[in-house]
Amino acid sequence: MYNVAVVGATGAVGEELFKVIEEYNIPVKKMVPLASARSVGKEIEFAANKYKVKELTCEVFEQEEIDIAFFSAGGSVSAKFAPCAASAGAVVIDNTSHFRMDKDIPLVVPEINPEDIALWQKRGIIANPNCSTIQMVLALKPLHDAFNIKRVDVATYQATSGAGKKGMEELMNQMQAIFNFKLDKEVEKKEVFAHQIALNVIPHIDRFMDNGYTKEEMKMVNETNKIMHTNIAVSATCVRVPVLRSHSEAITIHCEKDVDVEIARKVLNDFEDVEVMDDVEKNIYPMPIIATDTDITYVGRIRKDIFDSKILHLWVVADQVRVGAATNAVRIAKKWIELEGNK
Ligand code: A2P
Repeated sequence: MYNVAVVGATGAVGEELFKVIEEYNIPVKKMVPLASARSVGKEIEFAANKYKVKELTCEVFEQEEIDIAFFSAGGSVSAKFAPCAASAGAVVIDNTSHFRMDKDIPLVVPEINPEDIALWQKRGIIANPNCSTIQMVLALKPLHDAFNIKRVDVATYQATSGAGKKGMEELMNQMQAIFNFKLDKEVEKKEVFAHQIALNVIPHIDRFMDNGYTKEEMKMVNETNKIMHTNIAVSATCVRVPVLRSHSEAITIHCEKDVDVEIARKVLNDFEDVEVMDDVEKNIYPMPIIATDTDITYVGRIRKDIFDSKILHLWVVADQVRVGAATNAVRIAKKWIELEGNK
């Protein structure tokens, strides 16, 4: 049994973590929810019990004898406190981008590179990849094994949940304002997104880099190859859309071999936690309202390029809060327990 801490317990991903930890039967001896001083005393529910939120400090991990610490409170919080948890002997599973590209920190999607978990010993930290990257690599891995992927072009349609509770609230407030004919006032209050998100799409997630791409887009480039141990050329355009939860992606995949749609369907369907949903005659394809609250990465609209037999196009949707964050983190914990926990 393990003492478990959730850092960011009052956030969108933190709240989901409590549900998923229970659903995946992680053997929890003690649950310790942690957040900022603002939230001390608030109650969260885990496995039908109520727990009071405690303040995140460097000392709390040693005091509470934490074995597994999930971090989902932003990069600067992880930078400061994840090393405290690791030096107190916990394995940190970090949801932020802070440690992801460090050489001696594993970046893990358990269905793809569970063997990398062993590297956790070096720093005591395992990084959870970017949400858009997780659902993309879950679709790419079986296709890479079948057709040898050389290049991927992806456009994302990312939900507001990716910006946390505040992002979802900003969309809801603006939608309400629209129905009350008060949008002008509400838009003045925009805090999370650079522009009005209601009834709009914004081709801008995270900050712009010198190369003209955003940091979110570069995460998809770099993290994909770290997870898959490949050298695939990736180009991403990341777009925020007025959806509450679940990201969608239009992906174009260039392969070394000729692609075959039937083989693609089969290898995708056979892959763990991936499901093909593709029957266009019946208007069946993945959408955010289908993926939300599930742990499945759905793939549809699978088709061969009209001009090039080595190119495949598809559409991938998954719940960003679960598959893209909480569920992947808990799947990492489960694998860690299986592979490393009893050593
Ligand atoms: P709090 O509610 O006390 O601010 P989201 O991603 O949904 O915006 O949630 C962010 C989470 O990270 C919340 O649980 C928030 O707690 C937590 N958090 C933010 N800043 C800090 C901090 N400096 N120390 C501890 N927890 C923090």
